[in-house]
Amino acid sequence: VSWREWADGEAAGIRDAGQWRAPRDLDAVGPEGKLAPDGRPVVSFASNDYLGLTHHPSVVAAAHAALDRWGAGSGSARLIVGSRPVHSELERALAAWKGTERAVLFPTGFAANLGVLTTFGGPDVLVVSDELNHASIIDGCRLARAECAVARHVDPEHVDALLANAGSRRGLVVTDTVFSMDGDVAPVADLLDVCARHGALLVLDEAHAVLGPDPDLPDPDAGDAGVIRIGTLSKTLGALGGFAAARGAYTDLLVNRARSYIFTTASTPADSAAALAALAIVRSAEGDALRDRLRAHVEQVRPGHPSPIIPVVLGDERATLAGAAELLEQGMLVPAIRPPTVPDGTSRLRVALSAAHSSEQVRALATALAALADR
Ligand SMILES: Cc1ncc(COP(=O)(O)O)c(C=O)c1O
Repeated sequence: VSWREWADGEAAGIRDAGQWRAPRDLDAVGPEGKLAPDGRPVVSFASNDYLGLTHHPSVVAAAHAALDRWGAGSGSARLIVGSRPVHSELERALAAWKGTERAVLFPTGFAANLGVLTTFGGPDVLVVSDELNHASIIDGCRLARAECAVARHVDPEHVDALLANAGSRRGLVVTDTVFSMDGDVAPVADLLDVCARHGALLVLDEAHAVLGPDPDLPDPDAGDAGVIRIGTLSKTLGALGGFAAARGAYTDLLVNRARSYIFTTASTPADSAAALAALAIVRSAEGDALRDRLRAHVEQVRPGHPSPIIPVVLGDERATLAGAAELLEQGMLVPAIRPPTVPDGTSRLRVALSAAHSSEQVRALATALAALADR
């Protein structure tokens, strides 16, 4: 077949499965905006801007100042001539935040996972990965050319059993700490114990860990293997970029080996400056207040839930699409998440709450979700 026929056939397959997707523009700063194509006013419950820092005045001002000082783009990779003082300053601030010796920036969280897993994975490594880990971890495992054993979800005993089969290989355990489609949390303390017993390296992806778990990790230099903490600048920190925080020996190795660090242009100075300003807020009393507000929103929708990602699992794909359409009619944008993003039969509405929502907006959502559940 020709390329055109092939592409048309692939697209038809996705359409026939009812899984065709296309982006919709939301003209917005913060949760309220106008949704294309008809400009309908909506409140979005779809963003990972958990603390509302994308549009915080000091974050925006820092980005403006960086643009004025260094221009729009970095012009080249960090190791060539793309490194600006703001990149290094942000790395120091991220390391201090995470309690590690050092941190290294990547263009995105996705690139950070690829970089860490390809650098530390390899044929002499057994990678143990939770079955619900993010796509960037799955792709990192594939690229690492290591054998990858998939562990049952949040099951440290299974991780233990899988590591017992590592033989002469070094073990590496990788997990989201807050799972992106379920909003539940990994048993980090148990995983630390299991890894310590096997001398395995623990890699934590803390992309969504705005409300914790905030693992009380050992000194980065203690023990043989240690921990690598991966994060993103694009969610809690309201900008764009990713990072890995760890002992200096590991971050230095990433700088020298990780292809998603070496062969890509450095983050824009404006993004790094925005994240730096956001991090100062996250670590201040204002940050505490924003997290308290977010926790209160979560309590309104699902008491006791550990994160701002709240799945409303309806199971059936069509019912989920209908639920999302009904909420949209009421001016609430909540995405329907379906296979292949989640397993068959677990289609869901994925609510993401933010401190930028008002209590009234969250109350209206909780009422609408309760009405959906009552059917
Ligand atoms: C758990 C997890 N890790 C990594 C990423 C990738 O981060 P980024 O958007 O910065 O590429 C995401 C989401 O985007 C995520 O949910």
